[in-house]
Amino acid sequence: MQTRIETIINEVKNFSIKSREELDSFKIHFSSRKGILGVILDEFKLLDKEEKIKMGRYINSLKEEVENKIEEAQSLIVQGKEGNLRRFDKSKPQYPILMGSRNPVSIVLKEVVDIFYYLGFVVSQGPEIEDDWHNFSALNFDENHPAREMQDTFFIDKDFTLRTHTSSVQVREMEKGKLPIRTISPGRVYRNEAISSRSHCFFHQIEGLCIDEDISFADLKQTLFTFVKRFFGEKTKVRYRPSYFPFTEPSAEMDVFLGIENDDDYRITKGTGWLEILGCGMVDPQVLINCKIDTDKYNGYAFGLGIDRISMYKYGITDIRELSENDVRFLKQFTKV
Ligand code: DAH
Repeated sequence: MQTRIETIINEVKNFSIKSREELDSFKIHFSSRKGILGVILDEFKLLDKEEKIKMGRYINSLKEEVENKIEEAQSLIVQGKEGNLRRFDKSKPQYPILMGSRNPVSIVLKEVVDIFYYLGFVVSQGPEIEDDWHNFSALNFDENHPAREMQDTFFIDKDFTLRTHTSSVQVREMEKGKLPIRTISPGRVYRNEAISSRSHCFFHQIEGLCIDEDISFADLKQTLFTFVKRFFGEKTKVRYRPSYFPFTEPSAEMDVFLGIENDDDYRITKGTGWLEILGCGMVDPQVLINCKIDTDKYNGYAFGLGIDRISMYKYGITDIRELSENDVRFLKQFTKV
């Protein structure tokens, strides 16, 4: 038996394994249950005690030799050094690195956030699935306000909606009770509207909120004016039109003057040269009370800015649907080089 084992050890040593197939046949031949090692072990069991002691070490070194051989072959195969496996060719050119790109909405959103951040506003966010209190009631929408109708709002059930505006985050920030507040809240909002090139059932807003002592409409105007100059250019003109929102008093809408230099300007500004970009106003004291803020001490302003429309203006995009269709040919144009 001893010489037989020694011969097998030699056979194992000389067995050349260059491929997965050869490794498999090595295993079948030597280490499987019915292979040589299995047969030897069966024979070993039948030996008497003394013989077992004598043969044990030969059998162990055979086992070791077989295991080493398998391990060695496996590691060569993993490294791709087996004979018939594709070798790693160091001279081949690298596969091209495919760069992703940012959606224009994300680019503009970041730009706007950065400007307000510079003005001392910190970013806050709220949930897209919102309860009635945060989306409507706390903001003074009365029971019969049209925004609460099914045709304007996506209801999830009788208590929850997809938020219709980021103003809901204002309420959440005020409820935290940490004053003063200077925050901007970017995010996606949903409205039950027919989808066309000009409107979508979801779009993006940035909400701004400032609550402090002695805040005036002049603070609001100056903040927004600084933003407009940075975003649209130093010389941009703005105008305010009186408006109505349930949660601000007084309320206004702000337009920026883009002029009518080409067809796009004409179309985007409906022939007026002015583009409406946001709603704003002084936070209605009732909203502060709803959020348990002391109205003798604090007041503030708020504004809400639509991101999709200014992204479209900035990049000359004519169809709002392109912003969410994820067409690679469209998105590729926004890859930074
Ligand atoms: N939430 C309004 C909308 O969805 C926008 C808005 C208007 C936000 C006035 C404000 C504001 O904070 O003061 O159209």
